[in-house]
Parts: sequence; structure tokens; C-alpha cells
Amino acid sequence: MNATKKVALVVGAQGVIGRNLVEHLATLDDWEVVGLARRGGETRPQVRYIAVDLLDPADARAKLRGLDHVTHVFYAAYQDRPSWAELVPPNLAMLVNTLDAIEPVATGLQHVSLMQGYKVYGGHLGPFKTPAREDDAHFMPPEFMFDQQRFLESRQAGKRWHWSAIRPAVVGGFALGNPMNLAVAIAVYASMSKELGVPLRFPGKPGAYDKLLEMTDAGLLARATVWAATEPRAANQAFNISNGDLFRWNDMWAKIARYFELDVAPPLPLSLDTVMADKAPLWTAMTHKHGLQPIAYQDVSSWRFADFVFSWDYDMFGDGSKARRFGFHEFVETEAMLFGLFDDLRRRKLIP
Ligand SMILES: NC(=O)c1ccc[n+]([C@@H]2O[C@H](COP(=O)([O-])OP(=O)(O)OC[C@H]3O[C@@H](n4cnc5c(N)ncnc54)[C@H](OP(=O)(O)O)[C@@H]3O)[C@@H](O)[C@H]2O)c1
Repeated sequence: MNATKKVALVVGAQGVIGRNLVEHLATLDDWEVVGLARRGGETRPQVRYIAVDLLDPADARAKLRGLDHVTHVFYAAYQDRPSWAELVPPNLAMLVNTLDAIEPVATGLQHVSLMQGYKVYGGHLGPFKTPAREDDAHFMPPEFMFDQQRFLESRQAGKRWHWSAIRPAVVGGFALGNPMNLAVAIAVYASMSKELGVPLRFPGKPGAYDKLLEMTDAGLLARATVWAATEPRAANQAFNISNGDLFRWNDMWAKIARYFELDVAPPLPLSLDTVMADKAPLWTAMTHKHGLQPIAYQDVSSWRFADFVFSWDYDMFGDGSKARRFGFHEFVETEAMLFGLFDDLRRRKLIP
């Protein structure tokens, strides 16, 4: 390790958020990166990976023991569970185990960044106050993000390091094998619609078609996350981070259909989790026919998450002005982000 560089520990380095954070940090000359995930990763200049199970405190201590140069922890690990209550124990345990392992060895620790989301505002539960602001009151738990934030704040008290909490909307970015990836789900759904010769239909709840929502580009999110972790004024603060524009599916869906050269038909409520369950053979046939990468069907399909997003028959957006007031001014056009991601999936030969 080069003592003059900042050293990032990206926790959850294979996720849609962590992976794009690693990519961003790897472009910056003054950072070295260590990525953590159970599956590890391919080490390259400036980036090395450690395979670790953070649910196991002993494994975390053993694998993180040598990381004495880490200056910044970027926590973006996630364990999926079927209910809001079941999300709490594993997601709190992974954060606790990470800090228990890294704090005693990384004596020059400067910052711990926590990835959150609009769950902090109850956005996943039903109609909530929009635009949501960072200082909106908490609600009745369980909510794992509250437990994580409370733990981090109490662990930081009296220490030399600071924390920040980053709250993105639905994230658009490249990743495979992760439970929450809307752009990949839309791209695979559209590609299969085309293969089957059916028009593109919005499969969500009828009321979700005309509500306002927003997304967060994973690259923009990475830049904001690093900004908040290194900007002294952002210390011990939470920030909503989104692209900066709002959209409605009733407008975006037709544009997505045009991108895939499909007709758009009126919405029809469908559970993608149900109707896409029998499509693995179709996917395999498509990979052969179009010369696609042989990626397993379960690694390109986040149907449960797509169903969840398409069920929001209420507005879903935050107030992004706090980050701007504190000095982060970037924005991304959501339509361009989606088409850029679809282009990227085509380049990578993941969709036809
Ligand atoms: N995706 C979104 O649209 C979105 C939007 C807003 C907020 N968020 C929030 O952002 C956070 C990260 O979400 P994400 O979508 O990036 O998650 P993700 O894609 O599921 O990534 C999770 C990461 O954690 C790692 N991980 C899981 N269990 C682990 C374990 N036991 N030990 C070590 N590593 C482990 C995974 O790698 P391995 O599987 O290899 O271990 C992966 O790298 C979550 O709190 C989520 O709620 C996400």
C-alpha cells in the first residue's frame, strides 16, 4: 500500500452500487481500493478483492486483519430477505462485523459511508411525504436502515472518523446476480417481449403508470458518495442523491419500447415474478440464437424487485437540494442513463 494514497474499503463490491463505486475509485489516482464480497473478485492494478462472509464475525476479523491502511469504509453490502423484519438481523450484523473487524486495525480511519435509500422515508411501505427530506421523522420499525444508522452514529461518537449516509432512489447501473437491478430487468423483459413477438406492456399496478418517480445513476451515485466521504462539511450528514429529473412510466415506457424497436401496448398488471418464472428455457435459446454470454437466467432477472418498483402507485421522490447546498451539483438525464445502460448490455453481449 502507498502511504500517501487514500485507501477505500468497498463493502459489497459486487453489488450494483459497490461495483460501480469500485469502478469510479479506480479512475482516481489518489485512491487504492479493497473490495469485499463473498465471491471476491479479480484483482487488478489499484483494486484488490477479498472474499469474506461478513455474516461470520470470525471470518471478517481474519480476512480484514491486514487492512491497517484503510482510510475510508464505503458500506454497500446487502442481504436480501422476504420480509422487512427479516432484513434487520443480517444487515445489522454485517455492518457491525465490518466495523468490529476494521476499526481496531485501521488506526488512520477517516470516514465510514453508509449506503441507505428511500426506505428511510417509508417509501417501500406506501404513499409517503414527497419530496422526502433528510430530516423527515422516522416511523415505526422494523427498518434495518434505522438500526444501521443508529449503530453507526453511536459507534462514531467521540472518534476521529466521521460518517455519512447516502440515500439514492432506484439505482441504474451494471451488475449481475443481484436482487435489485431495475435496468437489467427491463432490458431482459423487453428483449423477451421482442423474441416472443409481443408488444411492450407496462406490467405494473394501474395507478403506478402515471406517478412521478426518479432514479439514480450508479456512476453519479459513486461520485456523490466519494464527495460526501471527503468533503468536511458533509461529515455526519445524510444526503438524498438522485439524477435530478423526475419521470412517469406513461412517458418513459413508450421511449423504452422505441429503443427496443417494439410497439407499446396498454398496461396490463402482471406479476413478473410469476410470468417470467418459466422463461429460463427461452433465455437459454436466446443466448444461443443471438450469441449472448452464457449468463444464468437467475443472474439477469430481478423480477421480484421490478414487481416492487412497478407497484408504486404513489409518487416516489426525494428532495435533492441538500447535496447541492453542500456543494455536489452533478445531474444525469434518466432517459439517457437507461439507454446508455441498454447499450452497455448489448456491448457486453448480455441482451440481443
Ligand atoms: N439497488 C437499488 O436500486 C438500491 C436503491 C436504493 C438503495 N439501495 C440500498 O443500497 C444497499 C446496497 O444495495 P445493492 O442493490 O447494491 O445490493 P446488491 O446488488 O445486492 O449487492 C450486495 C453486495 O453485498 C455483498 N454481500 C452480500 N452478503 C454478503 C456477505 N455475507 N458477506 C460479504 N458480502 C456480502 C454481495 O456480494 P456477494 O453476493 O458476492 O457476497 C454484493 O457485493 C442496500 O442497503 C440497498 O437497500 C439499493
